[in-house]
Amino acid sequence: MTSPSNVAKFRITGGKALDGEVLISGAKNAALPILLCSVLTDEEVVLKRVPDLADVKTSFHLLTELGKACSYDAATNSAVLKGGVTSKVASYDLVKTMRASIMALGPLLAYAGQAEVSLPGGCAIGARPVDLHIKGLQAMGADIQLEDGYIKAVAPNGRLQGGHVIMDKVSVTGTENLMMAAALADGVTVIENAALEPEIVDLAVCLRKMGAQISGDGTSRIEICGVKKLHGCEHSVVADRIETGTYLIAGIATHGIVSCCGANPSTLETLLTKLRQANAVVDVDGDRITADMRGRVIKPVDIITAPHPGFPTDMQAQFTVMNALAEGVSSVTETIFENRFMHIAELNRMGAHLEIKGNTVICSGVSGLKGAQVMSSDLRASASLVIAGLAAEGITIVDRIYHMDRGYEHIESKIMGLGGSIERFY
Ligand code: UD1
Repeated sequence: MTSPSNVAKFRITGGKALDGEVLISGAKNAALPILLCSVLTDEEVVLKRVPDLADVKTSFHLLTELGKACSYDAATNSAVLKGGVTSKVASYDLVKTMRASIMALGPLLAYAGQAEVSLPGGCAIGARPVDLHIKGLQAMGADIQLEDGYIKAVAPNGRLQGGHVIMDKVSVTGTENLMMAAALADGVTVIENAALEPEIVDLAVCLRKMGAQISGDGTSRIEICGVKKLHGCEHSVVADRIETGTYLIAGIATHGIVSCCGANPSTLETLLTKLRQANAVVDVDGDRITADMRGRVIKPVDIITAPHPGFPTDMQAQFTVMNALAEGVSSVTETIFENRFMHIAELNRMGAHLEIKGNTVICSGVSGLKGAQVMSSDLRASASLVIAGLAAEGITIVDRIYHMDRGYEHIESKIMGLGGSIERFY
């Protein structure tokens, strides 16, 4: 694998135990649907704790392309969105850089009666189809054609109708897309087998502030009674549970002590249980979670990814680094996405003993990793390589860190604040 020399890389000098406090940002996966739900109103939507991330910038480009007036102050993480949409097209150039742009489809169709959103295309962590989004909108009366690589959708007479949607598979952005569409539909929509992720609940909280009538969010049956008009609101985005878990694991893998402040422990129960099984001393005090691994050995823990409240697929790669350094053998099974093991070969280049068998990785723990030159393949894979680099002896170069910039705010300053040694170079 080669990459152009001007692509940003991290140089990490490993082997130092992380020690300190890190302030957790707003969740990327909550911020993206919440930014897009502003399409449902022409009134002012004010959002706080919007993380300064590449995917958030892509969302602003998308909203601007749709005709919204957007302003963002990265220093205070506040965004203001106003005005009605004037375009109904989410172009390929934006959708290909951020698959979550598919969530423009539901709100555009509900607000403007029409939408054209590019098909996202392939993705490094598997095929990731959008059939559930399309079927759900069809159940709400949308007429949908796939033409020239675009999903072209029309709501007959300009309005979607409430519908009964049974999702064949649990889909997070699928559920969010349908919730937003149903908020402005005529009549009642019921979504069965809905996703339970905390980001769904945060979107529902924001939509209710806008006047939507939604109940059942956080359960597998969400009911939405459509209203004629939604209004502006102010909302603060929920804490990022995946960022929280990533820093806790970085602390554990380096045998240090890390406190995550501004976190939301109730969204992380499964992970915290697994961290305790791995022998970390985990303490929860309000919005502060501390994992202390000083002087302790890492115990191997089997994990199987599953929709919330199961073990999150977005924590699988990071947890694998802990298992790679554990005293004994464990297994990591991925059930959500195929092809989400691209970090395994890179971790093995750093001295890990990880073997892929179907959708399971058998982890035979080693006593230490060695710095190496490694390549990121996707967002969470890159987080695992950074954690491995921090834990390894010597220098690790992580290439293609643009993946990590999609989901981790102020990575270098947060890691350096914990005493880690990381620098960006080109
Ligand atoms: C969201 C998260 C992502 C996380 C994932 C699973 C956002 C922006 N992204 O992605 O970080 O890894 O949930 O927790 O919130 N599927 C279909 N048809 C569809 C839609 C999905 O078959 O129409 C399949 C997918 O291929 C996958 C499974 O359903 O196997 C779950 O995917 P889904 O929950 O939709 O993931 P995303 O919402 O894309």
